[in-house]
Amino acid sequence: MGKLIEIENLRTYFFLPGYAVRAVDGISFSVDEGETVGIVGESGCGKSQTSMSIMRLVPDPPGKIIQGQIKFDGKDLLKLSEDEMRKVRGNDVSMIFQEPMTSLNPVLTIGFQIAEVLMLHRKLSPSDADKEAARLLKMVGISDPEERLKEYPFQLSGGLRQRVMIAIAMACQPKLLIADEPTTALDVTIQAQILRLMKKLQEEKNMATMFITHDLAVIANFTTRVIVMYAGVIVEDSSVHDLFKKPLHPYTQGLLGSIPVMNEASKNDEGKRKRLYTIPGTLPDPKRFPVGCRFASRCPKAMKQCWEAEPEIVEVENGRKVRCFLYSPTIRQDPTIKSIEILAKHGGKAWLKEVERREKAKAKSGAKNKALENPVQGDK
Ligand SMILES: Nc1ncnc2c1ncn2[C@@H]1O[C@H](COP(=O)(O)OP(=O)(O)O)[C@@H](O)[C@H]1O
Ligand code: SF4
Ligand SMILES: [Mg+2]
Repeated sequence: MGKLIEIENLRTYFFLPGYAVRAVDGISFSVDEGETVGIVGESGCGKSQTSMSIMRLVPDPPGKIIQGQIKFDGKDLLKLSEDEMRKVRGNDVSMIFQEPMTSLNPVLTIGFQIAEVLMLHRKLSPSDADKEAARLLKMVGISDPEERLKEYPFQLSGGLRQRVMIAIAMACQPKLLIADEPTTALDVTIQAQILRLMKKLQEEKNMATMFITHDLAVIANFTTRVIVMYAGVIVEDSSVHDLFKKPLHPYTQGLLGSIPVMNEASKNDEGKRKRLYTIPGTLPDPKRFPVGCRFASRCPKAMKQCWEAEPEIVEVENGRKVRCFLYSPTIRQDPTIKSIEILAKHGGKAWLKEVERREKAKAKSGAKNKALENPVQGDK
């Protein structure tokens, strides 16, 4: 199967007065056509900003994609104009967010919002768009679709609104669907229904899907490959089968230890339920990541070297990748980090001013947008 999207060394930072938040800090991965990939990790580890970067929807300012490549179907999304990117968003890549109310317009009917997408991106006539909208609502399991199309978002329950969002996302038959915690805001029964629906649609349409969640149980049911993120970087990338059978990274081992298991192993010697394991400690501050491994302060296996240098992510077996000195002594070498730290010390505002100055100069000279390059190269 061919690669649909290839992400190379992506960095997305937020520049606030006096410091930079390194939300996504040099990640590389790819998704094949038709593949379902899960991205998992604690809240704040950079999952959403990874997907926002792919969609080029990072709030700017203060956010900036400062480095990297996002190749989709052969073209680098970071080099497209805003107009070209809008077409990609409508036709090739769709996204479903955690809270559908933030994406639906409260003053327009559901029918209008679905038909608008169909007319714009699939060039359907108004009457064909209405028919197709009703068909899409039926496809996502909404009964009485013609009546529902006349309703406003507030008249629908959370579960129905999320089904509408799925219908809108599917309207353009995207090659890649990104679902960012699509069921987190819903109650457990509705969550299961929405997940079943997404799985069915994914299988029927053979659409590549990136499923972002903090819940490994969802990953196990929905995806075939999993990327584990921690503090802005990927720490493990593996098939779901291998990961659940034998998690390699100590963080993944901790995450798996925190899943409730309803069997004998979950009971202690007196037959009572064991307490759920939680990983002690919290994510490091993204303004000041430690020099060594970002997980060291919480890692039960930390060694001296883990405090001195950051491990590189390396392939270990069966295409599995892991970032940990237990599996490889390779150290991460990245000059960008150094210059960004200098930048942060000088203050985010100075950085933004420099980017703006360069963008203006480039626009004037008619050169291509090279503002994504590190503006303080050589500022040592
Ligand atoms: N608009 C913003 N301004 C400043 N920092 C932000 C902004 N959005 C996200 N961040 C920071 O980026 C990091 C990653 O956030 P996010 O990608 O939303 O995490 P996740 O989705 O894994 O919970 C966090 O430290 C978060 O505080
Ligand atoms: S590199 Fe060291 S601290 Fe980091 S996860 Fe591996 S053993 Fe733990
Ligand atoms: Mg998020």
